[in-house]
Amino acid sequence: MSFRITYSVLDADLSQLHAEFDKALSGVRGKLGAEHPSFISGEPWRGGDLLDSRNPANQELLGRFHRTPLSEVDRVVRVSREAQKKWGATPWQERARILKRAADLISERRMELAAIMTLEVGKTRLESLGDVEESADLLRYYAGQLEEAQGFVKPLARLSPKEDTRSVLRPYGVFVVISPFNFPLALAAGMSAGVLLGGNTVILKPSEETPWCAEGLYQALHDAGLPPGVFQLVHGEGESLGAALVSHPGIDGVNFTGSQPVGMEIHRRLTAQSVRPCFLELGGKNPAIVCRDADLEAAIEGCYRSAFGLSGQKCSALSRIYVHEDLKRDFIAGLAEKARATRAADPSLASTYLGPVINDASVKRFERAVAEARQGGTVHAGGGRPQLEGALAQGHFVEATVVEVPHGHRLMRDELFLPFVGVTSFQTLDEALHMANDCIYGLTAGVFSRKPEDVETFMDRAEAGVLYANRRTGATTGAWPGVQSFCGWKASGGSGKGGCGPYYVSQFMREQSQTRM
Ligand code: NAD
Ligand code: ALA
Repeated sequence: MSFRITYSVLDADLSQLHAEFDKALSGVRGKLGAEHPSFISGEPWRGGDLLDSRNPANQELLGRFHRTPLSEVDRVVRVSREAQKKWGATPWQERARILKRAADLISERRMELAAIMTLEVGKTRLESLGDVEESADLLRYYAGQLEEAQGFVKPLARLSPKEDTRSVLRPYGVFVVISPFNFPLALAAGMSAGVLLGGNTVILKPSEETPWCAEGLYQALHDAGLPPGVFQLVHGEGESLGAALVSHPGIDGVNFTGSQPVGMEIHRRLTAQSVRPCFLELGGKNPAIVCRDADLEAAIEGCYRSAFGLSGQKCSALSRIYVHEDLKRDFIAGLAEKARATRAADPSLASTYLGPVINDASVKRFERAVAEARQGGTVHAGGGRPQLEGALAQGHFVEATVVEVPHGHRLMRDELFLPFVGVTSFQTLDEALHMANDCIYGLTAGVFSRKPEDVETFMDRAEAGVLYANRRTGATTGAWPGVQSFCGWKASGGSGKGGCGPYYVSQFMREQSQTRM
């Protein structure tokens, strides 16, 4: 399949990119504080109480979103079921065309969408642009899968010349899609696109932290010509609205990305009544192994980027480092120096690398982790809250933190989702692999070694769905649609075939064998 990657940051004129972002940001600032509807049956819906979206960098009010009350859930599901009959029968070429058109609209609107994201999530400019462009690429890549497979109709063998048998992949029906805050457009877009291309309809419940970003997706799909009711956007908290949606007997499946405990709760609810598909992409506790003969500078750079990019709030973020004991002192000194030099700042400024974390619960999790690290190990860098001026003093800022704790410590086991990385040393690659694999999660992992045989041993034995070797641009992060598949192993995922990969769309369809005489 030919597929064009549009990640403009790779070869962009950065000064022009920043000028465009500044212009978009001032346009978006003019819209702050407005009321926004949910979107039901192709219409804006107002009438719920209001969910406030706030900037994690300074607490300014960004927008007020009408929550979808539980009393509307039956109607939302009914609308989705009705719309699915037509959408499921729409030729696959038309489904792919609409999704590709939506991708083009996202690309056209990328600066405005990125500016909204920087305000709503606290992502730096380039991280926000990357998220927006990843969304467009995911839509194009998944549409290409449907086109390449010609709608997933495959002739099978004949028992007699008169017989014509085909395997046909058909939609399931209505899917609830539930997305997390950290890739608020890319994950909502990618998960929804896979489901829609398969001929299913979508009820999207985005994270309550990022309703505005989700509205950008709704607008692109709507303007691309998706018929009313095929994609509905509802707003509310996970424990109430999310739980009500996944418990509804009228839905046929769930596509979820988020934390492991929430994913397991959804799985229990969905499968309590009947066997229905439940796609889960969950958390991580991603390790990197730095071998004795690693390129030290590349290892420090790759680990730094993966631990602190997006303030450590990527499912793929590096949170455990196993370094050979001969390198330990120099490695920790180099990583700690870079961490100390990284000042948390307003993410809407061009120069910022480390923005805020998403909310107060994350700050509390940070403070607890630092206290535990001080008790059970050594804090080599960070560990505090930066003192920022003016409105930023209200922001959820924490320092880039490097700690040394033993492998068995809780901080080397539980997902923290913070700019916080633990380091411990090893003597043999066997030991390092044992520690790296000794974890319930298995999302991403990286290795740094100049020895090809060590890299091969790592590729063979690391228990994770996404592996990288010697990657200075990111030890464990930075997967891109069509370049890396993104599939969680172990407690990191229940799908078996992750996002960004070649098997994604077909998962949202069920097989039917059709024989005609
Ligand atoms: P979260 O699990 O707290 O919330 C995710 C979504 O689930 C939100 O929309 C939330 O409202 C909803 N939700 C919460 N409780 C619910 C319930 N009981 N029933 C139904 N829905 C419910 O996650 P988050 O904090 O938004 O995102 C961070 C998590 O997501 C991390 O664990 C991260 O590793 C994971 N993540 C995984 C991937 C991946 O591809 N594997 C990608 C991004 C994020
Ligand atoms: N695509 C993101 C990464 O791999 C999640 O870091």
